[in-house]
Amino acid sequence: MQPTDYFLKLANAGSAVSRYESEQGNAYLASSVEAIKAVFRQGAQFACPSHPYRHLDPLLQPLGRQWLGMGSSAAHDDALLDDVHAFFESHRIFPGIDTFHVTTNLPAADFHLALKAMCFALGCRLLFGLYIGGKSVDLARASDAIEEIRSGDGSGSSSSGSKASDLRARSAQAEFSWLAGEVQRQCGVAPTGENAHAVQETILSAAVPLAYALIWTLSLLGRDAATQAAIRREATGMNCGARVTRDALRASPAVAVVKEALRLYPPVWALSRTSTAEQCLADIPIQAGDAVVVSPYALHRMRSAWDSPHQFDPQRFDTGTLKPHTYLPFGAGPRTCPAAKSNVHVLVLAVHALLRRYSLSISKMPGAHPLVALRPAPQGSVSLRKLAEPR
Ligand code: HEM
Repeated sequence: MQPTDYFLKLANAGSAVSRYESEQGNAYLASSVEAIKAVFRQGAQFACPSHPYRHLDPLLQPLGRQWLGMGSSAAHDDALLDDVHAFFESHRIFPGIDTFHVTTNLPAADFHLALKAMCFALGCRLLFGLYIGGKSVDLARASDAIEEIRSGDGSGSSSSGSKASDLRARSAQAEFSWLAGEVQRQCGVAPTGENAHAVQETILSAAVPLAYALIWTLSLLGRDAATQAAIRREATGMNCGARVTRDALRASPAVAVVKEALRLYPPVWALSRTSTAEQCLADIPIQAGDAVVVSPYALHRMRSAWDSPHQFDPQRFDTGTLKPHTYLPFGAGPRTCPAAKSNVHVLVLAVHALLRRYSLSISKMPGAHPLVALRPAPQGSVSLRKLAEPR
């Protein structure tokens, strides 16, 4: 059984906290509001290795700081969205299709890679002011390898398998070292390992979940021509030279679709913490060193929290009131995603840019592959039709 389904089964069984078998020792899944709040509370006795993104401050562009929640002004938020909008409008996502074809059947793996590469290009441009061109594809491939290795999914068992995987790991690392070198060179700072680590971890934290969220959203839309058409109409009306603002984007039907995609397929499908003390979690005694997991994937599909939980129904976000702590695509508490405020709008802008240029159809939803992030399986194909009129 996939770990996503296993967590869902535990969550649906109704216990606030469930113990489960883990290779690392004692582990618990927290599923009730009370237990989740306790895990994420400010000052709680649950640790998580610190993320190095704050070390990046001297290397970031002003809008990159804003994106990472290190600046706070509504005007800068709109400037950020304007820049993201300009990026998506000018980015040639599928250059071959733009140039040569009207309709094409793209292998899903190529479709995914192109979108992931776009998210790396966006991240490098917005965070560091770097235009990386074709290198974005190399970084996207390198991130595939890093995700697999970190999930224990990339090592071969035979010695020739492990040699191949060592080689893949080294070449993936070389891509990110190149990027870190470029960022530091551009800022005129002496390269340090600490900076290189911060650049790599931050760009991975930004581009990977964005890419998967976008792929899942487009895959769901690829099976829903009517919603695609509604979003295209709205997107075309909005693209008339006026500045993009949060208020304008709020009206787009793509907002509910993106939220629903993040519900069904949260890229960060499990959040792990380590207990730093002997304590009780929802009356269950746990020891220092025990792992406690909160799974957005399981929470988002729990029968007690959602009607028809497995069904794609964006309207639930237009009409429903969410139960507390049942929708956590960006986490919660002091370690919430620092880009949480912008993520949905950035994704809406990507969906708009894509649907203004293409119509897409997908015959089968990709399977979900829970590595470090919830990756869509690359099987199948995507039919892309370039729209006749430039929009
Ligand atoms: C749809 C897109 C995204 C999703 C679903 C997502 C989700 C998350 C989640 C759930 C966490 C919390 C992890 C935890 O508590 O253990 C997180 C942390 C983080 N995210 Fe995002 N994220 C997204 C996009 C981004 C972007 C665009 C950036 C950068 C611009 C970013 C930067 C970070 C960083 C630096 C952290 C670590 C924060 C810390 O540990 O204090 N994320 N993200």
